[in-house]
Amino acid sequence: MKIVFATNNPNKLEEAQELLPFFHVVGLKDIGCDEDIPETENTLEGNAKLKAAFVKEKFGVNCFSDDTGLEIETLNGAPGVYSARYAGEPANAEKNMLKLLSDLKNETNRKAQFRTVIALDFEGELLTFEGVCKGHITENKIGEKGFGYDPIFVPEGFNKTFAEMSLAQKSAISHRGKAIKKLVTFLHSLRF
Ligand code: IMP
Repeated sequence: MKIVFATNNPNKLEEAQELLPFFHVVGLKDIGCDEDIPETENTLEGNAKLKAAFVKEKFGVNCFSDDTGLEIETLNGAPGVYSARYAGEPANAEKNMLKLLSDLKNETNRKAQFRTVIALDFEGELLTFEGVCKGHITENKIGEKGFGYDPIFVPEGFNKTFAEMSLAQKSAISHRGKAIKKLVTFLHSLRF
């Protein structure tokens, strides 16, 4: 079964394709969607739903979307839904990481979590699936793999950052991996 993942991020698409081997997962580019999909809500749930509904309405395809935020305990959950543009426009992963490291300078509580909400537009209903990965923020960037904040996030129970892990290792424990597994369980329950 073909399903569209409403993303232009090749890393995310690869992660989803690995976790959904029985589905033909394609990205926005593959369906000829090059529009800027609005992300105007102030919650991860709201934005994920907005993106999935937008694609379903415009392209009439089965679609899921995700929205992810990095929530820092000592910053009361910030940057959260604003993670992509934490250091301002245009979105830039390097600048975001440097700003976060600087905001947490001399801070001993470095607890953080990634939270992903996936929205699935299914038969006119919008269903959501959540995945959380707890961990902490490092003092410096470490590792070359992955994307976004990966070089400064160490998941709980590990002593290396996401950027030092293989895709398979990251997906087995990550926020998005957990949310996608819930999505897979749901799709399988429908006997897809
Ligand atoms: P979005 O859900 O793609 O809009 O992501 C929001 C922000 O979180 C962006 O800055 C992404 O780079 C970052 N982000 C999303 N998922 C991950 C991840 O798995 N690792 C590191 N950063 C991520």
